[in-house]
Amino acid sequence: MKALVLAGGSGTRLRPFSYSMPKQLIPIANTPVLEYVLRNILDLGVREIGVVVGDRAPEIQGTIGDGSRFGARLTYIRQEAPLGLAHTVAIARDFLGDDDFVMYLGDNMLPEGITQVAEEFAAHRPAAHVVVHKVADPRAFGVAELGPGGEVLRLVEKPEQPRSDLALIGVYFFTAAIHEAVRAIEPSARGELEITDAVQWLVAAGADVRAGRYEGYWKDTGNVEDVLECNQHVLSGLRHSVAGEVDGASELAGPVVVEAGARIVRSRVEGPVIIGAGTVVEDSHIGPHTSVGRACAITGSRLGYSIALDGASVTGVQGLRSSVIGRSASVGTTGQSTDPYRLVVGDHTRVEVAA
Ligand code: G1P
Repeated sequence: MKALVLAGGSGTRLRPFSYSMPKQLIPIANTPVLEYVLRNILDLGVREIGVVVGDRAPEIQGTIGDGSRFGARLTYIRQEAPLGLAHTVAIARDFLGDDDFVMYLGDNMLPEGITQVAEEFAAHRPAAHVVVHKVADPRAFGVAELGPGGEVLRLVEKPEQPRSDLALIGVYFFTAAIHEAVRAIEPSARGELEITDAVQWLVAAGADVRAGRYEGYWKDTGNVEDVLECNQHVLSGLRHSVAGEVDGASELAGPVVVEAGARIVRSRVEGPVIIGAGTVVEDSHIGPHTSVGRACAITGSRLGYSIALDGASVTGVQGLRSSVIGRSASVGTTGQSTDPYRLVVGDHTRVEVAA
């Protein structure tokens, strides 16, 4: 068994962060989403992993390298343009050979892992085994109609009138039967070769296609709200560990991770919170459900339910909530009550202030 991880995709819904980093590298509890993906694959005992990359290849390679840090062997496969998920299977044909493989979208978070899904695939070894999860609005996803025994009756990509509330999660198990389907389909209305259409082609051809329901936590981290929600979820499983310095005037409550080289001074940290290496928190109140990256400076501020990326600074700002602060971005005060706001805001940035 091999794995194909998709880390192309431009991440337009994650602007402005996706200008400076591929969306698959957005940190959840200070770890890039792509690392969670690789760990879940390695948990299956799969070592041969193809990683499909687009024009953000250098950053992806700079972060996960050749995979030896994780015990994986990574093969990078370049996709020249985002022509669809099924297109990635076509360009990975030489890497995949005739092996079974798991295809995993590099922005999908399944913190409880996929070993059960792999077992379900192995038990029947259908041509394709997809994973579905009940969602409130299925129109943003591939949607499955299932028969009573879990067999797939029909799949439709982003239907306007969904016939079920079961969305396709970005984890698919295939035998080599998928290659014929990928060759047979035509681009969709959005101009992409859809994996949903390839699997539907197998269904129509009478192949055995099954679906398993995933009851665990799943999030496609495609937009800022979902990133924040996922961060909160992953932080709620945090285990307390303090390697950095906490002075006598500070108080830690609940599970808090203070990485080596971080310093907490005259502050209250209300877990779950993770504070990255080299970060200094002074005269502040952080948490709950907040991740602060590496080498940040949080001074005289209050920050909750938020993510600060590496090198960010927050100075003298009370009541920041549900916020994402980009790498080396700074948030501060003007020091003038007559001119309370001064903003230097980049492209596709979002700022919300009290009414
Ligand atoms: C893709 C798939 C869709 C699936 C979703 C899961 O959508 O096309 O079928 O439900 O991933 O994250 P996209 O993220 O390309 O819009």
